[in-house]
Amino acid sequence: MSQLPTRLRRNSNIRNMVKETRLSMDQIIYPIFLVEGNGVKSPIASLKGQDHMSIDVLIDMLPELKEKGIRSLLLFGTLEEKDAHAGCAYEEDGLIQRAIRQIKAADPQIYLIADLCLCQYKSDGHCCFFTEGQEIDRKKTLDTLGKVALSYAECGLDMVAPSDMMDGRVAHIRQVLDQGGYEGVAIMAYSAKYASSFYGPFRDAAHSAPSFSDRKTYQMDPANRLEARREIELDLQEGADVVMVKPAMVYQDIIADAAQIAKVPVAAYQVSGEYALLVQGIEAGIITERAIYESLIGLRRSGATLIITYFAKTLQAILEREASL
Ligand code: PBG
Repeated sequence: MSQLPTRLRRNSNIRNMVKETRLSMDQIIYPIFLVEGNGVKSPIASLKGQDHMSIDVLIDMLPELKEKGIRSLLLFGTLEEKDAHAGCAYEEDGLIQRAIRQIKAADPQIYLIADLCLCQYKSDGHCCFFTEGQEIDRKKTLDTLGKVALSYAECGLDMVAPSDMMDGRVAHIRQVLDQGGYEGVAIMAYSAKYASSFYGPFRDAAHSAPSFSDRKTYQMDPANRLEARREIELDLQEGADVVMVKPAMVYQDIIADAAQIAKVPVAAYQVSGEYALLVQGIEAGIITERAIYESLIGLRRSGATLIITYFAKTLQAILEREASL
């Protein structure tokens, strides 16, 4: 037999030599849930292994995160008190604003990304405002998102990640940032973000479940692939520096499409439900911990350069174990 693919699998040397895809901690972004207060570190029941943290606790943890290979964080704010206008999202001394300043003071080299959305700050838990006729109030939503983005940039943020799925938001945010003198602040657009049940644990964690209706009028229909190409193309035209696909594992066709279309890096967000299912499966003994590596290398293989995952803290150890196999 001249064609024996197994010849290239006979030992770990050759397997490593022909490995087509690699995963490194440099490509990993760790989502963090911040809360007000001091000394707060409370486990998130729906996201085992993840905590709600106050800023000081996160600052104390920075050296440990560095040791674990984490050099980039995605910040989410979790507020007890929200308001109808999401005003708390762009206060000069808001939670995320203080967090950015303090984290950058403690570790200037860390790459800081902030999720940009209104649902964690707005009393009804929606990502946008509505007109009286219950249509999306795009102008008011974009104005507010722009204010939030600018306030983050003023604090020294590296990258904003709009997750609202409003039309035209990337162009608007780019314009506001540029006018404010923040040309260097990058935009990672949640370009293909699906209306997904895999966000369930996150909505518990971020207290951001909508109080009425759902997000189907702005997030994408899981049945659609072409539409994702359109969303990605629009965000690229509007100036996105990175395009993201979310969720990740059941949307790998979309990741592959994004990688084909985009001349910018593609990010994949392995969301809360994907994480929680893997954690539960491992705890129940249904799958082994190696499934974590497999889930993430699969995203790289599909075309993602960057990966956002709640497994970030344990990943370096997992990758070392994988390399020794
Ligand atoms: C806010 C936002 C959500 C997630 C990230 N940003 C929730 C949603 O759209 O309902 C989900 C993240 C996760 O599930 O891990 N719009």
